[in-house]
Amino acid sequence: MSGVSLERAIKRYGEVQVIHGVDLEIDDGEFCVFVGPSGCGKSTLLRMIAGLEETTEGTIHIGGRDVTRTDPAERGVAMVFQTYALYPHMTVEENMGFGLKMTGVPKEETRRKVARAAEILQLEPYLKRKPKALSGGQRQRVAIGRAITRGPDVFLFDEPLSNLDAELRVEMRVEISRLHKELGTTMIYVTHDQVEAMTLADKIVVLRDGRIEQVGAPMDLYQDPDNIFVAGFIGSPSMNFLRGQVIDGGKVRIPGLGDRDIAPKVALPAVGSEVTIGLRPQSLGVHEAPSPITVDIRERLGGVAYDYLKTPTKERIVVEIKGDDPIQQGTSVDVDFDIDDVFLFDTKTTLRLR
Ligand SMILES: Nc1ncnc2c1ncn2[C@@H]1O[C@H](COP(=O)(O)OP(=O)(O)O)[C@@H](O)[C@H]1O
Ligand SMILES: [Mg+2]
Repeated sequence: MSGVSLERAIKRYGEVQVIHGVDLEIDDGEFCVFVGPSGCGKSTLLRMIAGLEETTEGTIHIGGRDVTRTDPAERGVAMVFQTYALYPHMTVEENMGFGLKMTGVPKEETRRKVARAAEILQLEPYLKRKPKALSGGQRQRVAIGRAITRGPDVFLFDEPLSNLDAELRVEMRVEISRLHKELGTTMIYVTHDQVEAMTLADKIVVLRDGRIEQVGAPMDLYQDPDNIFVAGFIGSPSMNFLRGQVIDGGKVRIPGLGDRDIAPKVALPAVGSEVTIGLRPQSLGVHEAPSPITVDIRERLGGVAYDYLKTPTKERIVVEIKGDDPIQQGTSVDVDFDIDDVFLFDTKTTLRLR
């Protein structure tokens, strides 16, 4: 059993509070991703779990054991950082085995564990090389290998792929996913990249300003976001948001769509209330029609195109177009969507209306 549980976890640096009482349950063997914009407290929370930052208030349990005041080395965790932090004068083999050597593990056992990690990570051909003779992706694999040899109960990753170029990032993402399947160990992974979060996680924790906005499986967050922040953060391109106003007859008027009225299937606040309409680019289509909306820019990516629409309210609308169609930039269009694909939010509280 090596689940991780946080109870009212708080972090303060002097007067400044950066983590505001986080409650979280991570199951044994789960792949949990902390995602959120830069500065929201992802690294701090991870380092509190690792024991690299003191937890000011609240408790942290790993595998049912209270580790809140326990030394990092005694917590059964291994951490992989964005910067690989390899020893330049040691070979790959020595780098991976160094932690074990330092804790007095016998040579033969160290050799076996390093060999096993090298096999899992396909590093066997490079064991005798120094880090400078490796690519960025290979170096990060060595850093992961070093964590594997320690046989931790929980792996902690802090933006491990951020220093790699886009192509390698995708490759390593798949490898980390495979590693999790193979080892079955609890993993907590920090990233600001929602695509990494969506593709890797069993459970995503969306953080903002040191607080949890929502916790859920990737598709739950995508299909059922609790608020405007989560709705806008998860999904690419981001959800479109338009101002709307509740009018008589259970309807919402949308000025950005040329005063179009829709009848959403949710409980609406009082007539006159401001609401925010959320529409994913994937849920929209366009057809040529006399209208105050025009196609400002069309970006063609091959399989899909993105239309950036110009609306009478200057609000941004992005439409994902599958395949190709002959609509040109500058054409006036009507926007098509299914009423079931509309998300509605209370503009004041930013909470979802359901
Ligand atoms: N040693 C520190 N002293 C004061 N504030 C800090 C310290 N370390 C981090 N912070 C603040 O805590 C917040 C969260 O930082 P961090 O966890 O690094 O964010 P993230 O990893 O999500 O980008 C930031 O506002 C940052 O400025
Ligand atoms: Mg960070």
